Amino acid sequence: MSTTTDDAVEIQMIPVYVMGKKYEVPAELTIMKAIEYAGYKYIRGCGCRGGVCGACATVYRMPGDYKIYTGLACQTVVQPGMHLTQLPFYPAMRATYDFEELHGLAEEPHQLYPEVFRCVACNACTKVCPMDVQVMDYIAAVKRGDIKAASEISFDCIQCGLCASRCMGELPQYHIGQLARRLAGAYLTPRAEHLQTMVANIDNGRFSEVLTEVKGLDLEALKTTYTDREQEPATAGDDWAPQSNKGL
Ligand code: FES
Repeated sequence: MSTTTDDAVEIQMIPVYVMGKKYEVPAELTIMKAIEYAGYKYIRGCGCRGGVCGACATVYRMPGDYKIYTGLACQTVVQPGMHLTQLPFYPAMRATYDFEELHGLAEEPHQLYPEVFRCVACNACTKVCPMDVQVMDYIAAVKRGDIKAASEISFDCIQCGLCASRCMGELPQYHIGQLARRLAGAYLTPRAEHLQTMVANIDNGRFSEVLTEVKGLDLEALKTTYTDREQEPATAGDDWAPQSNKGL
């Protein structure tokens, strides 16, 4: 089936099922937009709409296929006959800790998440991950105390929680990966020297004058200052430098 708009662009319409009810929706829509096109309004399960916040984890089934598929509703395009529903936030236990009292030690994730050892390496978590994160692998890294590896393997996690929804060991994988990344960032990653230099410059008042000046601007002047600022051209080479070094 197809339909035409006022300017005669032909739009292919396809059937999808939202919570069991059939709707005809434009074929190029994402699941999120198709559900909205069908008349539903998101008040939960929708955030960035750009595939980075993890709020829109969803499951769907295709006609004649026994499998449950997973994806991000804001990124997955509808297909004819899809049976759709939207997952609310999937609850998983998150450990409470005072980060200042941690040190990046291998056993700290074990103490905070002892359930990590319930992992039976079935890999169901990896199979449902819409970001193609090797979830089972980073859990294995946590188990053997390799926080750095766990942080690197889990780096693309967007905390949607689909891994936890399928885990037969009932692990909150995404919270464990987040802890690993926090520990690695705070305690295991070498400090960036240029960042420390810049922080020292700020502490020493190098930017006090320009900051005072900016803070004294009214809203319109602030907007103009921002929009008129000198920007590095997209085609600039390595030798590009700003005309003014004020504020640098
Ligand atoms: S709405 Fe943020 S990932 Fe889909």
